[in-house]
Amino acid sequence: MKIKKAVIPAAGFGTRFLPASKAQPKEMLPIVDTPTIQYVIEEVEKAGIDNILMVIGKGKRAIEEHFDRNFELEEELKEKNRLDELRLIQKISAMADIFFVYQKELNGLGDAVHYARGHINNEPFVVLLGDTIIDTNDGTSITSEMIRVYEQFQAPVILLEEVDPQKVSRYGIVGGHTLDENIFEIDSLIEKPSVQDAPSNLAVAGRYILTPDIFECLEQTPRGKNDEIQLTDAMQILLKRRRFYGLKLKGIRHDIGNKLDFIKTNILYAMKREDMGKEVRNFIRKIASKLPPE
Ligand code: G1P
Repeated sequence: MKIKKAVIPAAGFGTRFLPASKAQPKEMLPIVDTPTIQYVIEEVEKAGIDNILMVIGKGKRAIEEHFDRNFELEEELKEKNRLDELRLIQKISAMADIFFVYQKELNGLGDAVHYARGHINNEPFVVLLGDTIIDTNDGTSITSEMIRVYEQFQAPVILLEEVDPQKVSRYGIVGGHTLDENIFEIDSLIEKPSVQDAPSNLAVAGRYILTPDIFECLEQTPRGKNDEIQLTDAMQILLKRRRFYGLKLKGIRHDIGNKLDFIKTNILYAMKREDMGKEVRNFIRKIASKLPPE
């Protein structure tokens, strides 16, 4: 069955990014001048999907407004003949069909995905974490690549990233074996294991293609790590019924909810921009030459 829908969980408080995330969704934090969530939507669109459900919570209205039309602003830009900016903001509101559902209590990622059940019905779908940008080396959409793997195996696919073995306790970690250079067959999943319990250093990297039977599994999933309903635990239940594959990321995962990643991503993207890249690169050279050794 073709993948036509995407779910973007974006309800979490963003406690790792306080105080900026106190009254502003972390998904709206800009990389140069574009909110993180817009990069995520662009990735979905490039994969040919135009039906997106966002799971949001309290304090996330700015996301809804960002993708809505703003007629007053459009008029203002027209009057001032600022047509480039006008096209830019009109493009955003024409992006995809975006639907919203409210996660009423923050009971974890698994619970957030469960809210998509009525919207998804009986189809496979993609899940993209709203605070994570995935940069492939050649600029393609990682969701497109994952869809190709899904079509080959007709089974769930998770994006995987090799992480420092000392940091496995921050992620969902998979066990299994390599099928070819970048495809992995998964036979176990564990959320935030200790270094000793981790079956590998391959981490779940914020993109999933799931089949609709995940919803039954979510219903059976007890509270796990941090007393939350974990998507990883529900996938472990689904794994008993289905084969599961991983696509190893060749590229960079930017976790914008993490302050250091946020800064690094802004520097990288600013350096690549046509309108300011040269100045940013010169600035970095200048300050780097004055840095004292650590
Ligand atoms: C979530 C998932 C985890 C995954 C991680 C990737 O954890 O539960 O399996 O590895 O995202 O960023 P969180 O970062 O929300 O604690």
